Amino acid sequence: MANANPRSTAVIGLQWGDEGKGKLVDRLAGEHDATVRFNGGANAGHSVVVGGTRYALHLMPSGVLSDRAIGVIGNGVVVDPEALLREIDALSAQGVDTSRLVISDRAHVVLPYHKIEDELREAFLSGGAIGTTKRGIGPAYGDKVQRASGVRMGDLTRPETLRERVTLACRLKNVSVQRMGESLGLERIVLDPEEICERALAWGERLAPMIDDTAYLLNGMIREGKRLLFEGANATLLDVDHGTYPFVTSSNSSALGISPGSGVPAKAIGRVIGVMKAYSTRVGAGPMPTELHDATGDRIRERGREFGTTTGRPRRVGWLDLVAVRYSAMINGVDEIALTLLDVLSGFDELKLCVAYETPEGRTERFIPDGERLGQVAPVYETMSGFGEDLSGCRSLDELPAAARAYVERIEAFVGVPVGSIGVGPDREQTIEVSGGVAV
Ligand code: GDP
Ligand code: IMO
Ligand code: MG
Repeated sequence: MANANPRSTAVIGLQWGDEGKGKLVDRLAGEHDATVRFNGGANAGHSVVVGGTRYALHLMPSGVLSDRAIGVIGNGVVVDPEALLREIDALSAQGVDTSRLVISDRAHVVLPYHKIEDELREAFLSGGAIGTTKRGIGPAYGDKVQRASGVRMGDLTRPETLRERVTLACRLKNVSVQRMGESLGLERIVLDPEEICERALAWGERLAPMIDDTAYLLNGMIREGKRLLFEGANATLLDVDHGTYPFVTSSNSSALGISPGSGVPAKAIGRVIGVMKAYSTRVGAGPMPTELHDATGDRIRERGREFGTTTGRPRRVGWLDLVAVRYSAMINGVDEIALTLLDVLSGFDELKLCVAYETPEGRTERFIPDGERLGQVAPVYETMSGFGEDLSGCRSLDELPAAARAYVERIEAFVGVPVGSIGVGPDREQTIEVSGGVAV
């Protein structure tokens, strides 16, 4: 993929996650010097397929498979060291070089009690649950913002500081965890700071050589003219400020999170690529106006293998919501769209696109970033002809059937952003490069 812009690139999901960000980051990594995670944690699941081999990445930046880019886990990520070490071991066993990883000393640590809290809260809320990945994300970000008991990666190599913070956290948490456990009829839960510290120090020992001040590292790279590739985890509609709150994750998962999550000034980001599927999916609870509960939805789910990379949960599936995508393009300042999974839509007589919402107050073309109010809208659809041809072997625009091309042109026109690439299969090579947009 040609990139004339000398500055850094961001890859951001425009829907509710799983748009194919990992595949794109892997493809772009060879043109960059670092791939940088700035938000989220092991809730992310990024699949990359190279020559038929599938790699599942959760905390490791997806550029790890390239020969060039180093991987950076920025300060805005919440790192579960146990999960990260497991991932490093699994990738090493697949023959991947995992040695070029640097982790921010200021990234907060997901500790075992965060996962317990996440699980208990979800069980306690039952019908009102968020449907989290139970990776401890919300509780870890909670401790970061609460301050006194937050543990950062740098603390894993400072036993005294670690002990102090973990002891305080356990004192605070034992009260609520035991109460919640009791009301759920569970065995008495006791958080033991000594045991947790022991495990954390062992993780710290292994990870210590990778821990550094990544804000200095990244800004130094920018000064030297190196190119950074920021890899968004989760996606814009899950952003804690701009998504469908409260059915969101706990970080700024749009491009707006890059600066606080990496220490790199916003003006250093030259190009924002918005990744979107040719339809919609969502995992967990929360509104999804175009959701399908019928055979069409089942068919898209099967064809797209829409089962979570992290939790294995079947993803909710629906028609493409252009209102939502156009909103996300605005929030992120998207320069270019990477359209993915277009191949999945072959074989349908008709394809529907949501171009407005019917709300209790009337019709609107504006997205409603509110979990409750968005739940009250009905989609207004435009219908286009489907295409029967298998797209998985297409490598250029000319090879796309006319109906598929018209579908892509409609997306471009509605969102007002050119499409720069089209995914027609999971493999790195199954991509159509487009320069300057489809409707030229
Ligand atoms: P991410 O979280 O945004 O990185 O996306 P995931 O990896 O969770 O989910 C995307 C899924 O779609 C993965 O299984 C990818 O291998 C697959 N995928 C990505 N692009 C394409 C595409 O263009 N066509 C098809 N059929 N699969 C794709
Ligand atoms: P990638 O990077 C899809 C969803 C969860 C849940 C909500 C909150 O693979 O696109 P959390 O565990 O973060 O507290 O869960 O957010 N969610 C994702 N859905 N893809 C993701 O990441 C997600 N990360 C979080 O399903 O609804
Ligand atoms: Mg995913």
